[in-house]
This record gives sequence, C-alpha cells and structure tokens, in this order.
Amino acid sequence: MQVIEIGENVYQIDNSIATVNLTPGIQVYQEKLIEYEGKELRIWNPRRSKLAAAIVKGLHTFPFKHDSKVLYLGASAGTTPSHISDICVDGRVYSVEFSPTMMRDFLDVSGNRENLFAILNDATRPHNYQHLVEKVDVVYSDVAQATQTQLFLDNFRLFGKDDCVGILMIKARSIDVTRKPNDIFKEEKKRLKEGGLKVIEEIKLDPYEKDHIAFICEKNF
Ligand SMILES: C[S@@+](CC[C@H](N)C(=O)[O-])C[C@H]1O[C@@H](n2cnc3c(N)ncnc32)[C@H](O)[C@@H]1O
Repeated sequence: MQVIEIGENVYQIDNSIATVNLTPGIQVYQEKLIEYEGKELRIWNPRRSKLAAAIVKGLHTFPFKHDSKVLYLGASAGTTPSHISDICVDGRVYSVEFSPTMMRDFLDVSGNRENLFAILNDATRPHNYQHLVEKVDVVYSDVAQATQTQLFLDNFRLFGKDDCVGILMIKARSIDVTRKPNDIFKEEKKRLKEGGLKVIEEIKLDPYEKDHIAFICEKNF
C-alpha cells in the first residue's frame, strides 16, 4: 500500500483518495476505513462526491485548510460536507440544506462533528441565515437547480472574504435537458464573469458525473 499526503488531512492511497477521519470508527456512507500510522483514513469516493471527482481529475486549486471557514450550499445527507469537516478540523463548515428529509440524515452526521453546522434554509435566500454565518474562505455550491449560478453568486457576495475561493458544481441537465452541456457551461461561465468573478479553473467531472462541470472562481478585482 502506497500512502502519500496530498493536502492538509488528505491522502492518496494507491489509486484512491481519503481524509483523516475526525470521528474514528464512524462511517458516513459505508466508506472503507483504513488504519495508517495511528490515524484512521476514510476513503473518499469520487462516484459519491463531486469534490472527490474533481480532485481525482486533477483539481489544482485546493482551498480547504485545517482552519478554513466554509459555506456549503446543498449539504444533502452530508457525504461531501463530512470529508470537508475531516479536513477543516479547526475551522467551521456552515451547511445549508432546504429539504427536511435530507436534513434529518445530515444531523446524524453533524451531531458527531463539532465543526459541522446544519442550517435548514433555502440557499436562494441568503439573508435568511446571514445572522448564523460569518465571512468565509470558501463557498461551495452543489444544489443541482436551474438557478444554481445565481444563488452561488448571491451567497459569494454576501459571505465571501476578499480572497474567498468559490467552487460551483454545475449540472447541465438541471438547467436545460434539451441543450448541449457545453453550451450551458459556456453560458454559466459568462454569468459568473458578469457577476464579478473570475473562473481560475474548470474541470469536467465525467466519467464520475455525466454532464457536470466544476468551476473554481475568485473575485475579479
Ligand atoms: C446534488 S445534492 C448535493 C450532494 C452533496 N453536495 C454531496 O456531495 O454530498 C443537491 C442538494 O441540494 C439541495 N438543494 C437544492 N436546492 C436548494 C436550495 N435552494 N437551498 C438549499 N438546498 C438546496 C437538495 O435538497 C439536495 O439535497
């Protein structure tokens, strides 16, 4: 077994990636746990997490540090948020989800993790949770909705620090099932630019997620 540290609390184990489990012995989605030099590593599955897919596909900009403050939009049952929580051990991960059913599952995960905060709210209305969230280093959005770029921009403007990095996962089919994904990606990139952001990296997520792209952005001063 070859193990290499590729980021703060992130490892590559042979052909897989993993994070250091903040809650040893506890699995979130039945992922494999591996003991390594006194740590427990949790395999991060690129078929279950778009962030893992982006890393496996060569993501260069990785803004998650041990003390990062993160705003996560579309937390679902907590699969990707749990890995970010493993990484940002001294930070905070504010996680917004509007489905009460998903939020129930999310609470099972966040209940064991002091850096993972659950916010049951609609990410299209960031002012609703403005009193709960501080300025952040990273805004991560994965909501699979037609207005995904607009809500990402609204949250970025309200919560992003000047040097905030934004990660927007775009699902073309959520915007228009009848149009070519590449045309949609081009249009959403333009929308980001018009919204005052610069796209510094873009990664298509196939074969892990079909017709998805990750846009990595920062403020365009
Ligand atoms: C593709 S799933 C997210 C998967 C999750 N990011 C992960 O990797 O573990 C999209 C989630 O966004 C949530 N969502 C969609 N629109 C939303 C909105 N306006 N506000 C908050 N959550 C939203 C959905 O309920 C769903 O749970």
